[in-house]
Order: sequence, then structure tokens, then C-alpha cells
Amino acid sequence: MKIAVTYSSKDGLLSEYKKRLGKTAPDADIPADFFAEGDSPATIQAIIDTFMEGGHQVMGVEADDRLLQTLEAERPDFVFNLAEGLWGDFRESYVPLVCERLGLPYSGSDPLTLAICLNKARTKEILGYHLIPTPGFRIFSPHHPVNLDGFEFPAIVKPASEGSSKGIFNDSVVYSPAEARRRIEEKIQQYRQPVLLERFLTGQEFTVALWGNGEEVEVLPIIAMDYSQLPVNSEPIYSYEAKWIWDTPEKPLEIFQCPADISAELKENIEELVRDTYRVLQVRDWCRIDVRLDEQEIPHVLELNPLPGILPDPKDNSCFPKAARTAGYGYQDMLLKVLGIAAKRNGLSL
Ligand SMILES: Nc1ncnc2c1ncn2[C@@H]1O[C@H](COP(=O)(O)OP(=O)(O)O)[C@@H](O)[C@H]1O
Ligand SMILES: [Mg+2]
Repeated sequence: MKIAVTYSSKDGLLSEYKKRLGKTAPDADIPADFFAEGDSPATIQAIIDTFMEGGHQVMGVEADDRLLQTLEAERPDFVFNLAEGLWGDFRESYVPLVCERLGLPYSGSDPLTLAICLNKARTKEILGYHLIPTPGFRIFSPHHPVNLDGFEFPAIVKPASEGSSKGIFNDSVVYSPAEARRRIEEKIQQYRQPVLLERFLTGQEFTVALWGNGEEVEVLPIIAMDYSQLPVNSEPIYSYEAKWIWDTPEKPLEIFQCPADISAELKENIEELVRDTYRVLQVRDWCRIDVRLDEQEIPHVLELNPLPGILPDPKDNSCFPKAARTAGYGYQDMLLKVLGIAAKRNGLSL
């Protein structure tokens, strides 16, 4: 097959940023995490190499302004999409929309599911409708007064439409209305988007990878987070600091336990929760879902990642590859499996 691997590289995002703003360098005051979601050259190369070794003709395509033109000219048989995009609340839908426009089959969820899952408030509203547990929340938008009446603390403040722990720092956990108000105003200002105030769950946290479609959806081994590894006095959350600063390949934090050492009953409850979540959000092919227990040990959904991060180096602690590895799939096997799942859904044989 002729496969186009679409991605948003860190360099690509930076040049898009400069082009859009007509600048030669990023502003000094852009948040440190602005490009956190860009694909690394190692990830892009590993995927291209894997599919080439699998006997395919492969081209890498940056998901920038030229995407439509490039895909139209090349007309690949299949698009394997990783691109998170840079601008706006619909950035993850860009590649799927272009593929829909051109009638090209592509991997992963459709533009609507990607847009909804990138909006944590909308996601939670859908989960609520289907009676799937998710922590209670309020949403605050620019220009609307912050009403905190009756909200219980502790709580966590997070931008509505970010991922990769962007905007979630150690100080995002708040203990009083005054602190919440300050943090909400600060985050709205900084991220220029609505912000969620969400009940803080103090129980154990998990992240769960799933793949497949319909009757063939499989839950991969559950990953448990162990926050006792974080510096003393830090909040028990997978913050930006925990993900990108305190955990380095040279000095890895042993945060993840896979498979999670939990009772058969809890495992079953979590598996049922994530399967239901995958179904009601109409996720396709693959996804990673974050889950946390409340004080009664009831698992709640925090959010979905239908374009999961897949760093190739095991030392990078990337969760989807870690769960796949525990299930017996090396990095390349994992990629070929996802490709196979997505191709099958599209009626293509590899
Ligand atoms: N309601 C919550 N209760 C407890 N911890 C939370 C809650 N929401 C987020 N967190 C913590 O913050 C981390 C990042 O939040 P998440 O919603 O998963 O955003 P991201 O898209 O950045 O991964 C989670 O992995 C978890 O540790
Ligand atoms: Mg998360």
C-alpha cells in the first residue's frame, strides 16, 4: 500500500507559528508547554521505517497548510494519522477532515470525535448523559463572572482544550474559592480558552489503552500511576512538571506500573468503564483513556486521548507503547496492529 504518515513535528509547529504571526521567533511569553504535543523526529522516523519494513511505500507528510494539496497530488491508499495540529480547538480534526474531503481512508477517529475529545467539558457532558462516572465540574469562559458558590474543594483547574498536561501544573490543584478564582483567571488569560474547575479525585489513577472496533475492541493491560515517586510535597497528579521536567531518559521516574497490581474486581470495573467510554464517544481504532478512583474506589473517566502519544524509546515512558509491550507487542508490532485494525475497518487488505 502507499501510505502517507501525517504528523505535526515540533519544527513544523514552530514554523507554522512563525508564519501565522509573521515573526521570526516565538514570543518570550508563550507558555513553556506551547509545542509539547509536537511529534519528535524519532517517532516519525520509527513509524515510517516500520511501515516500509512491512513492505509498504511510505511518505511522511507534515500536517501544515500544504496538506490538502500534497494528499490530492499523491493520492495515497491510506493515511496513518498522528497529527495533533497547533491552532484552535479543532486542530486534531484537521487531517481527518482533509481526508474526508478527498475521500481518502485514514486511521483513527473521525473529526467530530477528535474535536469532542479535545474539549474536556463536552466529553464530560456526553459521559454524563450516558451515566458514565466522571468528576463533577464547572466551565468558565472569558468575560463571564466566576461563580464558585457551592463548589467543593479540593478541585483542579485545567484548560478545556489541551492535552499532554499542557496547562496542568503542580499549582493547578486548588483548596479554596479564592485560590480557584485566581488560578481560573490566570489560566483563561494564558491559554485564551475556557477553563474547567473539576472536583479533585484523591484515589489511585490509571491510564488504559484500547484498540479495535465493534466486537473486536480489546483493553490492553492497565497502567497504574505511582505518585510516591514525585518530589516531596508535590501534588499527586501527572502534571506538566511530572511529564516533561521531573521525568527524563537520564533520570526516569518510575511512575507507571504495568500491568496494574489491582483486584480482579477493580480490573473488571475499569475495563467495563473504558469500553463503555470508547463506545459512547464513538472512538475508532485506538485510544488511551485516563481513569481515577474517587474516595469510594469508584473509577471515573478523566479524559480520552484518541490520538495517543507513541514515543518509540521505552525509556520515554510513553503509555500506549508500554501497555502494548506488556501485552507482547513490541513497538513495530504495535504500529502494524493499529494499521491492520484501521485498514480492516476501511475494508482494505494489507
Ligand atoms: N479531577 C481530577 N482529579 C484528580 N486528578 C486529576 C483530575 N483531573 C486531572 N487530574 C490529574 O491531572 C493529570 C492531567 O489531567 P488530564 O485531564 O488527563 O489532562 P491532559 O490532557 O493534560 O492529560 C491527570 O493525569 C491527573 O493526574
Ligand atoms: Mg491525560
